Amino acid sequence: MSDDLLQAAHAARNRAHAPYSNFKVGAAVRGASGRVYGGCNVENAAYPEGICAEASAIGAMVLAGESKIVEVLVVGISEAPVTPCGGCRQKIREFAAPDTPIHVAGADGVQMTLTLEALLPQSFGPDNLS
Ligand code: THU
Repeated sequence: MSDDLLQAAHAARNRAHAPYSNFKVGAAVRGASGRVYGGCNVENAAYPEGICAEASAIGAMVLAGESKIVEVLVVGISEAPVTPCGGCRQKIREFAAPDTPIHVAGADGVQMTLTLEALLPQSFGPDNLS
């Protein structure tokens, strides 16, 4: 994995708005163009209205005009790896193929790499609606 995803996710994590959980998360997605889009979690005083880092990275990618994710990286602040939450797995699914690598990073770099299929097997996606 090249370093640009890791750098983008770390930079994004620094911008996280997480005053309620104090759990800052950064994510980076690579679009089909090769460009990388960062995102951070943005919490809200009305707790359920907060959004995850993956969701904001996906929003940045879509805003830039891309619609395919080829690689994802997530980095939290804990020792334990931060794998994408269930909702984010589905959000990634909208734009990514089953074999898309999802890297989970810790303080020392990438801790593990999983595929979207491993994280969200037998998933529902755009094809189900056609
Ligand atoms: N969080 C993410 O940003 N991504 C995940 O995949 C897991 C959880 C955020 C949401 C909330 O702001 C904080 O981490 C604690 O749950």
